Amino acid sequence: MASLIGIDIGGTTIKMGQFKLTGALIKKWEIPTQTAFDGMFILNDIEASLSLEVNLLDVKGIGFGVPGPVNGSVVLEAVNLGWKHLDVAEVFKQKFPHIPVTVDNDANVAALGEALSREDAYPSMVFFTLGTGVGGGIVVDGKIVEGSHGAAGELGHMIIDLNGALCNCGQKGCLETIASATGVVRLAKKHGSDLTDAKAVFDAAKAGDLKALSAIDEMTDALALAMQHVAVTVDPDAFVIGGGVSKAGAFLIDKVKEKYQKMAFSDTKHVAFEQALLGHNAGMYGAFQAIKQKVMI
Ligand code: BGC
Repeated sequence: MASLIGIDIGGTTIKMGQFKLTGALIKKWEIPTQTAFDGMFILNDIEASLSLEVNLLDVKGIGFGVPGPVNGSVVLEAVNLGWKHLDVAEVFKQKFPHIPVTVDNDANVAALGEALSREDAYPSMVFFTLGTGVGGGIVVDGKIVEGSHGAAGELGHMIIDLNGALCNCGQKGCLETIASATGVVRLAKKHGSDLTDAKAVFDAAKAGDLKALSAIDEMTDALALAMQHVAVTVDPDAFVIGGGVSKAGAFLIDKVKEKYQKMAFSDTKHVAFEQALLGHNAGMYGAFQAIKQKVMI
């Protein structure tokens, strides 16, 4: 049966889904992301896993969501994988020349997936994905804004604290150093907690642990500030929050919303706040939508 594959390459896991051309999910699975040696094994691992899991003769196209700015099919830099200037389609073509491929930024395709899965899609929305990295996808008038250098929506690299922690991108104080899963753990440590994963920090904060609460307060201050900056730039209808950290749910979203509304300019205080409907599958689903749009035209 003809199918399409959506692949979301994250800094920790690679999520893969096989879909019917109509969009129904046939199967999904994950493999760990091997970032050793500048991520040189990642594409091999994906090829091997695909050969194992699906009949590639049936596959009519593969969409990739990758964690970095993309130009055409070239990933300019993926700081959490170790990739620099890698033409994913070109590498893939060597192994599977008959399969068309799309390569897009992970957060951009997640925003696309999220927009397409909503019955009442917001004409303009800004998607934040909080995971190993922090990414963003900006949708204006129903279209993803790519920018001149593929970097529109790189919200994780918005500098929030000039003297902040070193980011994998080489700058200091990027939002990613504060609002990613590793950022949350770093803040927890700074506030005297010895918890070692973001979910545990959120759970402790929900239970009233003061150290964890201070960490989450600092994280949500930074996220709200970043949203204020985005609101006066794009003035969207909605902020949608996805990625593994968003599993903290209303506890996270309500806090950010309250802080944002105190800083918001004029009517931007009415921006809607929502958790991603597709949860941490938004990237995989969006990567499928991107290849579907390419092969079904
Ligand atoms: C990358 C983005 C990506 C985000 C989430 C950031 O470090 O620069 O392109 O969307 O991580 O994976």
